[in-house]
Order: sequence, then C-alpha cells, then structure tokens
Amino acid sequence: MGLRMNTVLLLAMLFSSVSAFVDELSDSFMEMKAADDIWLIKFYAPWCTLCKELDPIWHQIGSELKSVGSPVNVGKTDATINTGLAKEFRVRNYPAILMLKKDVKYNYSGPRTKKGILDFVDRVGGPVVRSLRSLQLFQHAMIQHDVLFVYVGATSQLKGNFTSAAEELIIHTYFFSAARDVLPKGVSLPFLPAVVVFKDGTFFTYSEERDGDLKLWINRERFPNFSKIDSYTLYAMGESGKLVVLALVEEENLHEQSLRYKRLVEKVAAGYRETYSRNFYFGFMEGNDYINGLVMGEVILPSLFVLNLSNDGFFLPPSTIETEQHLLDFLNGVLDGSSQCHGGNGIIQRVRRLFYNVKVTLTPVFSQAPLLGCFLVGVPLSFVATFCYLCCKARPTWINEDDDEGVALLAPSLQRRKKNTSKKSD
Ligand SMILES: *[C@@H]1O[C@H](CO)[C@@H](O)[C@H](O)[C@H]1NC(C)=O
Ligand SMILES: *[C@@H]1O[C@H](CO)[C@@H](O)[C@H](O)[C@H]1NC(C)=O
Ligand SMILES: *[C@@H]1O[C@H](CO)[C@@H](O)[C@H](O)[C@H]1NC(C)=O
Ligand SMILES: *[C@@H]1O[C@H](CO)[C@@H](O)[C@H](O)[C@H]1NC(C)=O
Repeated sequence: MGLRMNTVLLLAMLFSSVSAFVDELSDSFMEMKAADDIWLIKFYAPWCTLCKELDPIWHQIGSELKSVGSPVNVGKTDATINTGLAKEFRVRNYPAILMLKKDVKYNYSGPRTKKGILDFVDRVGGPVVRSLRSLQLFQHAMIQHDVLFVYVGATSQLKGNFTSAAEELIIHTYFFSAARDVLPKGVSLPFLPAVVVFKDGTFFTYSEERDGDLKLWINRERFPNFSKIDSYTLYAMGESGKLVVLALVEEENLHEQSLRYKRLVEKVAAGYRETYSRNFYFGFMEGNDYINGLVMGEVILPSLFVLNLSNDGFFLPPSTIETEQHLLDFLNGVLDGSSQCHGGNGIIQRVRRLFYNVKVTLTPVFSQAPLLGCFLVGVPLSFVATFCYLCCKARPTWINEDDDEGVALLAPSLQRRKKNTSKKSD
C-alpha cells in the first residue's frame, strides 16, 4: 500500500499533468519510466506554430488510446526546457514525434494527422512480426495493406533476419508471418522458408542470391508499382536511394496530356518491372508547389521528372515525351549517365535555394500583411542563421516541407519550419 502511494506521489511529481490523456514529461522521465512502458512523445518548442497546431490532435490521440485501453502512453515535452530528454532522443526539428518501446526509439516522419500518427502507434506498439493464423486473417491483411511482407515457414536464420529487418523498418510498414497452409493455394512457393511480398495484385519472393541484403530489398519493395506520391512519400522513397519517376499533374481536372503521362509512367512501371524496379520508383504527384521548391522555379503542369533524392538532383526529358519508347530512352539516359542532372545540393544550389525560399516566403507576406513583412525583413539575424543552417545541414530542407493542412498567413509551412529552426540556433 505504502509502496503504491509512493509511486503515485512520484508520478504526480514527475508529470504535471496538463490533460488527463497527455502527460507533460520532464528530464527525469528516462529514470522514472518503467522498463516495459510504451510511450508516444511529442517534443515541442513554445514558439513553434506547427507544434501548436498539433496540440488538439495530440489530445484526441491521448483520449482515443486511453478509451480503447491501449498500452501506449501519450506524453509531450518542451524540448527547450527538457534539453536532456531532447538530447537523449536526438531531437533536431520541431515538432518531433517519437515512440519509445523497450528502450528502442522510433522516429515518426509521416504526415502529422491523427490517422497517420495512430497508424504509426498501432504498428510500432504491436508485435514486430504479426502472426497470421488463418486464411481469413491473411485475407483481411491483404485488404488492409497495399503492400504486405510475409515470412512463410518455420523458425530459421532467415526468420531471424526478417525479424531484425522488421524491428528497424516497422516505422514504415507492417510485417507478418504465416504457415504455408494458411496462404491461398494459388500462392506457389518453390522453397521454404521464404519471404514474400504481396502487392500489385501479385507476389514476389525474396532471393538472397538475386536480391542481396534482405533489409535493402524490403526498403526497395515497400511501395506499390505506381502510386500517388506526396512530400512524405517522397522523403521515405529517398531513404532507399532509388530514383523517382514522377508524372507531375494538376490537382484536379486533369488535362488529356496529364492523363497520358500518368498512363505512360504506369505502363512502364508495370511492363518493365524487371528492368527498372531496382533503380526507380514510379508515381504521380498532384500540384507543383513541392517541385517548384526543388527546381526553384515555376514548373509547368503536366511534366515528367526523374528525381534523385540523395542529392536533390533532377532530370528532365530531352524533348516532349510522346511514346513509351521516348520514356524508356529517357530512363536509360538517366541510368547510363548521358542525361544531365540538374539542381543538386552543392553549395551554389543551396545559396540559390535560400534566396528562392526567402523570395517565396516574403512575396505573399508583403502583399497580405505588409507590417509583418517589414518585421520579418527587420530580423536579418534569422536570415544569417538560416543561411548557416542551410549550409551546414546535411539533408536538404525542402524535403521537410509539410502538407498545406495548417494553411497560414505565412505562405509555405516550409518557411515556418526554417524560421523555427533558425531561432533554435540562436
Ligand atoms: C526524424 O525524422 C525526421 C525526418 O524523417 C528528421 O528530420 C529528424 O531529424 C529525425 N529525428 C530524430 C529524432 O531522429
Ligand atoms: C542473414 O543475414 C546474414 C547477415 O546479414 C547473412 O550473412 C545470411 O546469409 C542471412 N541468412 C539468410 C538465410 O538470409
Ligand atoms: C500495379 O498495381 C495495381 C494495384 O496496386 C494492379 O492493379 C496492377 O495490375 C499492377 N500492375 C502490374 C502489371 O503489376
Ligand atoms: C544520385 O545521387 C547520388 C548521391 O549524390 C549519386 O551517388 C548517384 O550517382 C546519383 N544517381 C544518378 C543516377 O545520378
């Protein structure tokens, strides 16, 4: 009884609870938490608008998880005060969303929506590899997921490799295991154990000999043959080192040319899988906001692009793409190096990008709120800081752009983020 009281007191001291569903965590969190606790934590800074926008969502997530009796605790912490904790979690941008499970930290980098975050909580909070015990469960999983990684067979070294890949990649996708007789009869596997990915209406079996490292293979295969791509998807795709073939189209009322581009890219993705899937992802993106930032100009819709996300480079077709053969020639040109790579993240490009971003931020601010514009210009320090930040930062900033969900006075949220970061370095 006394022990229990002590725990309660300790907890009360540790968390000065803001809401019943979300605990405010302090620097002593790591010593105080129980070893098998699972936590979802938001790191914020008082001046960060994106963090504030996340507050109501955070509250809803906390309340929802509590109401379904989830083992996942929800917390938040002011990273500017609890710097020890922020350091422990290597937080560099705000808001940062992380999960802690069995002392392993998982970084969330998807869209900051309730659905996106709850999906992440479900994935990371549950078993790393989920067992599919019946055909019904398998079919249910097939309906739920576009891309399904399944280990088939008994315990083996391959299963060990699969599990350790899953531990790392669970932040991106789900992992399953099943006995052979659970799978539909039509799924013929030449050997067991096997790792199989079900996607695009078919399935592919992993072969160490042909496909190399399992983790890299999973990373390459975790997107469908042709899909809608947003900034988050693009970022995730970049992590695998593959290039992205992108049809850039209007957000609605697609032109005939846009439809043709989409069809062409899809056709090549599907028809030349063997040739290109190792090097390229294929998809389409709606609207040009995002790509304008990369290209630093106004991109005409529709367009075809190949992006190299490893270095912010992009390739443009040498002439209008009319036929499948034109697209194939373009892709081959990219691969054999005969097509020229534009952009990139060299120092000159970064300076150009800085000026471009400043221009894009300030133009709408001046037209909508001249006073605010003057204020922003009157804080040259932030530019200097932004400049240093851009030059020192290993990964390009445009990649961190956010959805336009929180439509704001201050044009693209990208700029808001950058300002936040520069203040951080003050
Ligand atoms: C988490 O991922 C984001 C983008 O994916 C990155 O900018 C950030 O630095 C990462 N944070 C941590 C704490 O690793
Ligand atoms: C498991 O991984 C190790 C090291 O990555 C590799 O040498 C081994 O061949 C893999 N085993 C199987 C069965 O895939
Ligand atoms: C691509 O994927 C879609 C569904 O994801 C599927 O309908 C289509 O048949 C696939 N194409 C090929 C040839 O793989
Ligand atoms: C993409 O960028 C990386 C990193 O700079 C580079 O190593 C690679 O060769 C580039 N790929 C192409 C096809 O240009």
